[in-house]
Amino acid sequence: MSLGPESGVPFAVLASGRGSNFEAIARAVREGRLSGRIVAVLSDKADAPVLEKARAAGVPVLAVPAPPREHGTPEERRRRHEEKILEALAPYSPRFLVFAGYMRIITPRLIDAFRDSGAAYSRIVNIHPSLLPAFAGVDGYGQAFRYGAKVAGVTVHLVDREMDGGPVCAQEAFEIGDCADRAEVEKRGLEVEHRLYPEVLEWVLSERFRVSEREGRFCVSQG
Ligand code: GRF
Repeated sequence: MSLGPESGVPFAVLASGRGSNFEAIARAVREGRLSGRIVAVLSDKADAPVLEKARAAGVPVLAVPAPPREHGTPEERRRRHEEKILEALAPYSPRFLVFAGYMRIITPRLIDAFRDSGAAYSRIVNIHPSLLPAFAGVDGYGQAFRYGAKVAGVTVHLVDREMDGGPVCAQEAFEIGDCADRAEVEKRGLEVEHRLYPEVLEWVLSERFRVSEREGRFCVSQG
């Protein structure tokens, strides 16, 4: 059981919450705008709404909660959690991980499991609600609104060891100078996300891109 053509690049979606990006990705797969194949949706939260949405879309769901707080240092817990995630995903053999609101700090263990040896990038893609490197961390839209920024934006990037710091695949800006509150910024942002993420995934998942080095940083270009 999976969603998408048999020939499509297999990928798993990791998400912690609402799942509107998962829905946008699943719609793009169903409509043939995204040629990849969703093999599973995994969440660290057993009651995350995204899991219900994945079930409704006919995609296998995996709930893999993090170990409880009393079980070791944060680093040890992350490592053990990621081992469990890799075990849960193994039967589905995803080539890529697509983060869609996955709210966990990850470790090199997960990154290296989705990185070809010697490659400068991982096969993990993330969407972040800001124009990175501005407003990294949680609640990019809220940060932009509170800062009084006149433009906000969305970044799709490959994941590396630095939080919200991997090579940028695509960015799109939108005006927020007239937004009355954070919710309005988010509403505009999600519209951009739901269109942009499937578009970018189409060429990233089929690995139609080049990675080059630019003064010590890596840079992704389509084609
Ligand atoms: C999105 O704003 C995404 O950019 C961020 O988390 C949010 C997830 O929303 N990483 P949803 O769960 O896809 O609705």
